[in-house]
Amino acid sequence: MSERAFRSAVVPAAGLGTRFLPTTKTVPKELLPVVDTPGIELVAAEAAEAGAEQLLIVTSPGKDAVAAHFADSAELEKTLAERGKDALVAKVRRAHDLIAVRTVTQDQPLGLGHAIGCAREAIDPAEGAFAVLLPDDLVLPSGVLSTMARARAEKGGSVLCAFDIPREEIGAYGVFDVSDTDDPDVKQVHGMVEKPAPDEAPSTFAAAGRYLLDVAIFDAIDRITPGAGGELQVTDAIALLISEGHPVHVVVHRGGRHDLGNPGSYVRAFVDFALEHPDYGAELRAWLTARLAD
Ligand code: UTP
Repeated sequence: MSERAFRSAVVPAAGLGTRFLPTTKTVPKELLPVVDTPGIELVAAEAAEAGAEQLLIVTSPGKDAVAAHFADSAELEKTLAERGKDALVAKVRRAHDLIAVRTVTQDQPLGLGHAIGCAREAIDPAEGAFAVLLPDDLVLPSGVLSTMARARAEKGGSVLCAFDIPREEIGAYGVFDVSDTDDPDVKQVHGMVEKPAPDEAPSTFAAAGRYLLDVAIFDAIDRITPGAGGELQVTDAIALLISEGHPVHVVVHRGGRHDLGNPGSYVRAFVDFALEHPDYGAELRAWLTARLAD
């Protein structure tokens, strides 16, 4: 099996985004900018860099703007070009040029497992496995999907992504029950616990929004029943596969992460990226320093 173990990357973007109301009444959460670029474009770039050939965006009726961001924008580009704004032409083209985009519709927000199940029609079973990237989770630096593909080539089955979190903070996460393999950054998964008390957590490895799922997940999604919140949970489908002997591993990503899904952590992501930005970084740093000294 080649290192690139997938050609399709699924990006579920059909949720209600309730934590970002009232903005998400009309603006999809996935289009909120990190400085000047929507989160979903950053995630699409990550998928393309890992070798994905098609991005399957799961959208819902009313969230057409998410896919429209990747559509051809010839008119706008022409206007910008006529005004000599070549740098802006490149910025506008980027999303369209990154990767081929297809959409599948989830009519109702019945959960992440259900959203992933909606992508089944667009994935050839011969692909073997596909990636899932949650667009509100930035995993930095990019590259973990390639490491996950290598783990699947070696171990088979499905591969997830984990962060090693200090035990006192682990209660906020979905936590893996794991055992060691011969690679210190690859663990075998036996189960998962949602938001455990820190002293009862089976490990300090918390789930992140990157998955490399064997196509067997689709049948598993068909066989689970609604769990927490009445939603079809992808973790329940993964647990079912584990119980049937399907190998599941995590790659422990030693890097940073931003959660764009709620205003508090979104602000951190925005500031973090802005501080690194060649145009805005220096001025923002000076302003923040003065503001914090007030
Ligand atoms: P989240 O739970 O973070 O997103 O799901 P949400 O449901 O939109 O946000 P809140 O909790 O109401 O604030 C993670 C990802 O899965 C997608 C979301 O769009 C988000 O990108 N999702 C979730 C779906 O596509 N369908 C669903 O039924 C649920």
